[in-house]
Amino acid sequence: MKPMTCSPQINPLNRFIQLAILVAMGLQLALPVARAENIPDLYLHGGQSLDGEWKTIIDHYDSGFYDYRYSERDLSKNPSRAETFYLDVQPTNGTERVEYDFDASPMLKVPGDWNTQRPELFYYEGSVWYRKQFASSPLAAGERAFLRFGAANYRADVYLNGQKLGTHIGGFTPFSFEVTKQLKTGTNSLVVRVNNQRSKDGVPTLNTDWWNYGGLTRAVEIVRTPATFIADHRLWLESEETKMISGSVVIAGAKEGETVELAIGELNQKMTAKTDAEGRVNFRMAATNLSLWSPEHPKLYAVEISCGPDKITESIGFRTIRTRGKELLLNGQPVFLRGVCIHEEFPLNGGGRVNSPDKAKQLLLWAKELGCNFVRLAHYPHNEDMTRLADQLGIMVWSEVPVYWAIDWTNAATYHNAEQQLTDEIRRDDNRAAIIIWSLANETPLSEARTAFLTGLAKHARELDSTRLLSAAMERHTKSGSENMNVVEDPLADVVDVVAFNEYIGWYDGLPEKCAKVTWEIPYDKPVFISEFGGDSLQGLHGDKAQRWTEEFQADLYWQTLPMLDKIDGLVGFTPWILVDFRSPKRVLPGIQDGFNRKGLISSDGVKKQAFFVLQDYYRKRAE
Ligand code: GCU
Repeated sequence: MKPMTCSPQINPLNRFIQLAILVAMGLQLALPVARAENIPDLYLHGGQSLDGEWKTIIDHYDSGFYDYRYSERDLSKNPSRAETFYLDVQPTNGTERVEYDFDASPMLKVPGDWNTQRPELFYYEGSVWYRKQFASSPLAAGERAFLRFGAANYRADVYLNGQKLGTHIGGFTPFSFEVTKQLKTGTNSLVVRVNNQRSKDGVPTLNTDWWNYGGLTRAVEIVRTPATFIADHRLWLESEETKMISGSVVIAGAKEGETVELAIGELNQKMTAKTDAEGRVNFRMAATNLSLWSPEHPKLYAVEISCGPDKITESIGFRTIRTRGKELLLNGQPVFLRGVCIHEEFPLNGGGRVNSPDKAKQLLLWAKELGCNFVRLAHYPHNEDMTRLADQLGIMVWSEVPVYWAIDWTNAATYHNAEQQLTDEIRRDDNRAAIIIWSLANETPLSEARTAFLTGLAKHARELDSTRLLSAAMERHTKSGSENMNVVEDPLADVVDVVAFNEYIGWYDGLPEKCAKVTWEIPYDKPVFISEFGGDSLQGLHGDKAQRWTEEFQADLYWQTLPMLDKIDGLVGFTPWILVDFRSPKRVLPGIQDGFNRKGLISSDGVKKQAFFVLQDYYRKRAE
């Protein structure tokens, strides 16, 4: 192979911090390669959708990304035309050697995971190159352009017209790149290397009980904005008594003194304010005629924000959520969370990641049919259709970052990755009235390093959003010498607002009849929440209730569990595991699991199991 030259490694972390600060100050910088940014309001500007069919190359050995010396091709000053996929070239004549050809390559649909689109990709973990050629009209004077991804699992290296835009890590949050300089009038070539390989230092890490769907799993678009544009906004209700609404808006590219107008027509509210040096304005208004958002009355208001030629409209509900001792108060009133856990997977039509509002809606409507006023979106931020629909349908939400099981607690890059995902989750959804709880983690093993890691995330989350509650799915243990005494003892419980834990009494721990014997020791003056319980059953498998895997066993487990939980002092709700059977590589029992976790109340064919009706009946009574 021809010898290659390698340039020095770029430290992405410093680059990212530099970029975040500069973007906040709205300055433009011609950076060669950047880490992705998250500009929340690009979503509301709408753009040119790049969804649909993309040409793809399965690159099992990553030879489009690394040369034969395993150096990254995009770090080379003159990458080989013959082998560097992101250049997206065709041979100029019959003699030129080019060893790839997107035009002749198969398609994959975007948004969507690759695993359920092609049988040879079902178990695939590695790199897939996506290429989209799209036409673009000239930018108007001063106009800017951004390339926005709803999400890509797990790492995305993004190139436009042969230039590297940057890299994004994390499979469940939005990211964007400014492409004002790179976008061409006419045909553009967008190439994305998506790699979903798991790693020890990843978030999540190597081991999960869900399918590691890879690909451009959420929408991709080009968003055009004026030179100065509305980049971010946040509104919240200070108090259900005063009905004072506070808010802030950030204008990218703004100098001091730009006029920003915020209006909520239905509340006869219209205010203007001037930007500060950072392009930020703050608002405060007394909305005495405000109708509060709640599951029974999911009232949303159209909020219009404008600055010069730029204007966005957002639907926002206003409510308060807080704790008082062991009580959970929604708009100042005690509330019980009738919930269920949901994975972002749709069982029907071939399964796979939820990639349309209709599929998201079906999952939430099943939860509604169950009698839920709350859902735990496990174990990672779901798509924004889900959280916006929850606003409209009046379903409160627990949203979580994939700090799941044994993360690499002492690794600074892992911490930064987790913190970045938390930042992007909160900044994407901090206007969603439905979201009442940010969850920091799931079933993480006790250690000082773990607690320091999660305490750091808690501090960061509170800095970003002090209006919502924090929790995490912790674990319980039994007291030595008394197997029926269940104790929750976790230093993290002192950090969070809601003490939540998973319990599998009757499934992983004993049989259902054990539920009647257990007692609890949960020494915190905080609301208690059961973030998981349940057991597997194969829909249609019937037998005696003592026979595991039958619907009768699962239904009986619910029968026995519900009264056990009702006895817990300070219980404010629960989310059984799980609404629908879901794919997991860990579930291999032939004839029963066959690659599915079968703890769903609804089967992978969309059929309700007996336990669904046991819980529905319980929630009906709870709601009376
Ligand atoms: C765990 C975990 C889930 C998992 C479930 C199960 O508690 O949080 O992700 O799927 O239990 O074992 O079914």
